[in-house]
This record gives sequence, C-alpha cells and structure tokens, in this order.
Amino acid sequence: MTNTTQTLTRPAPSVSAHAGPPKLSPVELRAAQIETLETPRLKYGLLARMLFKQMDLVYGRERTLVKFTMLEFIARVPYQAWERMGYLSLSRHRRRSALAKRVYERIVETREEQDNEQWHLLILQDMVQRDGMRQSFVLHRLAPWLVAFFYYHVSWLLFLVRPELSYRLNADFEDHAEHEYMSYVAEHPELEHVPAPATYAAEYGEYASVADLLRQIGHDERVHKLDSLVNMRAPRFQDVPDARTPRDAATTARR
Ligand SMILES: [Fe+2]
Ligand SMILES: [Fe+2]
Repeated sequence: MTNTTQTLTRPAPSVSAHAGPPKLSPVELRAAQIETLETPRLKYGLLARMLFKQMDLVYGRERTLVKFTMLEFIARVPYQAWERMGYLSLSRHRRRSALAKRVYERIVETREEQDNEQWHLLILQDMVQRDGMRQSFVLHRLAPWLVAFFYYHVSWLLFLVRPELSYRLNADFEDHAEHEYMSYVAEHPELEHVPAPATYAAEYGEYASVADLLRQIGHDERVHKLDSLVNMRAPRFQDVPDARTPRDAATTARR
C-alpha cells in the first residue's frame, strides 16, 4: 500500500545551486572589459574562421543582440558532445576509481558550462523579445539548428581523433564571444543607463545595467576559454598526469 503521509524536505534553490564561472562586482566587470579589449584575440584556426565568416555573411558584420542569440544557440554544443564522450569513457574506465573520478570531474565541468551557456541564451532571447526585434524561422530557427548540428558532429569527431583540436576549436569560439560582448558594450555606452531585466536574476544574478550583465556574460566566455585551453594540455582522460584535475589548473590559471 502506498504511504501518502510522508513529507519530503528540499533545500530552497539558490544562485549557488547553479555552479559556474565567478560572478564579478561592477568594478571587477569594468576591469575585465578593459583587460579583454587590451588582449589580442587568439589566432583562430580554419574551422573557427569559417564559422565566424558564415555568421557574418548570414547575420551581418554588425554586433547585435540577435546575432548573439545565434552564437549562444551553438555555444553549448561542444559541451554536449564532450559530455557524451565523457560518459563513454567513464564506462570504459569504471574499474579504475581514481581515473573514473577525474573523468567524472570533467563531465561535471562540461555540464556546468552547458548550463551557463543555456542561461546566456535565455537572457539574450529575453532581451531580444523585450526590444521587439524580429526573428525569422529560416534565419533564426532553422539556420542555427543546422550550424549547431554540424558543430556538434565536428566537436565529437575531433574529440575522438585529436581531442586537443576539439578543445582548441572551442577556445577560439569562446575567445571570439568574449571579445564580441566586451566590444558591443564599448560600442553602446547608453547600455550603462539601461536597467538589466530581472527575468533570470534568481538564477544568474542581479546586475544594475545591461552593460554589466553583458560584461558578466563576456567574462563567463573568458572562463570557458581558459578551461578549454587548460584541457588542451591533458586532452585524453588517461593522460592526466597527477591527481590535480583540469578544473584545479584552470582556477590557478584565472588568478
Ligand atoms: Fe555564452
Ligand atoms: Fe561560452
């Protein structure tokens, strides 16, 4: 017989429940923007340059919020591919507990970054809708889906053959996104006086202005880039040389 008198107590959800890149203060966000704008872009590989060129051709060279939603739509795709590959590796190494833990640590990292990209997409989509910007089915639903489909398969195929190339492609993508967000804020000083929508404040944090919100997203992209660059040094799960995880190394690199 089913017992219907039991109760279940769950902790109240909080921002910390969504682990991810650090949230910066307004002063730190401005410093992060200056640092990005003064740092040269990475030397992008052929695949990344093709992807950015294609985006420019379809959505125009001008930086816009609508174009950023397209970027965010495909940004989580490599993390999904790596998560899938991580679980395959986990089942292969399940009898070696130390290695299995390191593989699982990286799976957790890919999930956190996927979630972070998902918040970016939701925030951008919310701002686009508030501004009443037009999005067509072909350009803003079908085309990004096709690009994401292609990018997903490139990411996992590269990961299978040369995982460091898969991480490098993502580092290029994240570096591009970091510079695009920070440059967009620099090009639109009026955003300093536009209050940030509170739609996802409980999940992503509160920001005084749209400028700060976009700077925070830009800084998240920098963290994603640094994580990928660190993972490039130990791309295969069995190659991690000591108990120090890539996430530990990335944390050190960000300091
Ligand atoms: Fe993003
Ligand atoms: Fe990102």
